[in-house]
Amino acid sequence: MSTSRDILVTSALPYANGPIHIGHLVEYIQTDIWARFQKMRGHHCWYVCADDAHGTPIMLRARQEGISPEALIARVAEEHQRDFADFRIGFDHYHSTHSPENRHFATLIYSRNRDAGHIERRTITQAYDPVEQMFLPDRFIKGECPKCGAADQYGDNCEACGASYSPAELKNPRSAVSGAVPEQRESDHYFFRLGDFESLLKTWTRGGGLQREVANKLDEWFAAGLQGWDISRDAPYFGFEIPDHPGKFFYVWLDAPIGYLASFKALCERKGLDFDHFWGPDSQAELYHFIGKDIVYFHALFFPAMLHGAGFRTPSAVFAHGFLTVDGQKMSKSRGTFIKARTYLDHLDPEYLRYYFAAKLGSGVDDIDLNLDDFQARVNADLVGKVVNIASRCAGFIGKRFDGRLSATLAEPELFADFIAAGDSIAAAYEKREFSRAVREIMALADRANQYIDEQAPWVVAKQDGREAELQNICSMGLNLFRVLIGYLRPILPGTAAASESFLQIEPLDWATLATPLLDHDIAPFKPLMTRIDPKQIEAMLEASREDLSATAGAPAASATAADAANPHLSRDPIAATIDYETFAQVDLRVALIREARLVEGADKLLQLTLDLGGETRNVFAGIRSAYDPKELEGRLTVMVANLAPRKMRFGLSEGMVLAAGPGGRDLFILSPDSGAEPGMKVK
Ligand code: MSP
Ligand code: ZN
Repeated sequence: MSTSRDILVTSALPYANGPIHIGHLVEYIQTDIWARFQKMRGHHCWYVCADDAHGTPIMLRARQEGISPEALIARVAEEHQRDFADFRIGFDHYHSTHSPENRHFATLIYSRNRDAGHIERRTITQAYDPVEQMFLPDRFIKGECPKCGAADQYGDNCEACGASYSPAELKNPRSAVSGAVPEQRESDHYFFRLGDFESLLKTWTRGGGLQREVANKLDEWFAAGLQGWDISRDAPYFGFEIPDHPGKFFYVWLDAPIGYLASFKALCERKGLDFDHFWGPDSQAELYHFIGKDIVYFHALFFPAMLHGAGFRTPSAVFAHGFLTVDGQKMSKSRGTFIKARTYLDHLDPEYLRYYFAAKLGSGVDDIDLNLDDFQARVNADLVGKVVNIASRCAGFIGKRFDGRLSATLAEPELFADFIAAGDSIAAAYEKREFSRAVREIMALADRANQYIDEQAPWVVAKQDGREAELQNICSMGLNLFRVLIGYLRPILPGTAAASESFLQIEPLDWATLATPLLDHDIAPFKPLMTRIDPKQIEAMLEASREDLSATAGAPAASATAADAANPHLSRDPIAATIDYETFAQVDLRVALIREARLVEGADKLLQLTLDLGGETRNVFAGIRSAYDPKELEGRLTVMVANLAPRKMRFGLSEGMVLAAGPGGRDLFILSPDSGAEPGMKVK
């Protein structure tokens, strides 16, 4: 075996203002599988992460909730870590960017770059909210599209016609925070001179540490010219104040990747590791960052340049992955496919999703699709039908007839040797992040193991006299093949592997010891290791995800807006979906009279509304209970989506949706037409 490597891996740091969802999990599961694989190979591999706790969206979110940013990020940190632990993401350390270690490194990296002349001051003009007394990021300015006139568009692109523009071009611009008309104000900002690092970055890009697609993207950026990067923000801001510029703060994206160093530093303190061995300028250790394709710019340009400018090493490689779609479409709150980690866990075993993602993941940046029918079929056929089945077909006989004792010799040493020999190719696939290939090869072995058992037919042998030894040998052979398969699957299925290890009564499996078969050894009584997915579980998860939506904000339109504003990526995400005018025109908005409003038993977020559309009545469940008393709604006019496909909820059929705006809780406002409107009128 090769000598032991020192490896540090990271996943991108999730924002501390929202829950982990299954899209995020593509990345954490991918990284976790890779890190677990390296550990099984006997390497010194450390996996660290943290919450990304700074920035305007987090500051505003805390304000909306009426709590301090510190309280918000503390709560979210707990939720995130519980979700990750339940998905068996095996971080060696999980930290926060709002930490003393991160303040230390952010300040250090900034000041070293400043002293080397890589920071410059420039005066910029920016939109300012005179009511909130704060500068507004582009995503917090809304107005009418300069091209098509659509109302309520963000400061960078129009969701109705797809045009992109600068916030200054918006007509009738408003602050999304206060509604005030933004002013233009000047302010001094600090810029990192990225262009100083062009030749370093070009060398680094060609050093083999980037995927082809990513390297090509970088070439485009080089061709376009490297611009200075604004690393400062004005107060009020939740972040670290820049030491020599009071009232100015580090932009969240400056200290976010530095969070990798901070988290690792905290791990070093706990474990007595040598920080410089991993981050020093001459480090021979391997350093890898797993990220989504939307944040390549930060990881492949700014971060290596800043590290280099401050005398740290640059990453060995950055591994970007694609985005998750569900049933071929972007995750959608209304379809119930915007699935939170917690909602998934309420209904399904995390091992299923880990397996499915592994079966889909390659080393490229292609998007990956969670097809729910395929998910169910594949997990049931492969994991339950093939892998776990091997153990259940053999274990009963060993337990009942041989007191749990395995044979002293292997019945088919050549077949076992074939299984071990296949390990090199499987390991190579894991190493290159070609998990789908690893899974394919492992499942081909599982087919061979089942074929062996079919041919030997232990259930027939068991009924014949004088074939006891043969029966024990066949079942022991089957369980030995099972053991090797579980070893190969262990990075993907840590929970099933742990249960199998306790069933086989063995130490945690590692790659090197797999080749030694389990002979003359006692095993524990067999308990089912995994159950089949019932389609009802998936249905229930989708329904709960749809409910989540009505529960949090009441109005999908409004809540999607709030979430987008809180997510600064959407503006950079090349795959962010817009709808064209035709699509928008398909929405049938009608004036509706609220005839009756009632509480819903067992749903503390919902009200059941009987809506009159001027002749036709509709039953609608709306997540507005936190803001309204049912009695105050009766007799009021509002606006509803009349052609939304009816959907079955636990409490009955919902036949439409009322529109509401606001952050949620008590601050939720249903729309009301001016007087003169009649029930059933079409809203245009
Ligand atoms: N906070 C930044 C990262 C800072 S890293 C120094 C951030 N946070 S995030 O919560 O929006 O995303 C975290 C990671 O999850 C990113 O790598 C992002 O690409 C990934 N994903 C978020 N949504 C995703 C999908 N729908 N599909 C796949 N990955 C997704 O970006
Ligand atoms: Zn437009």
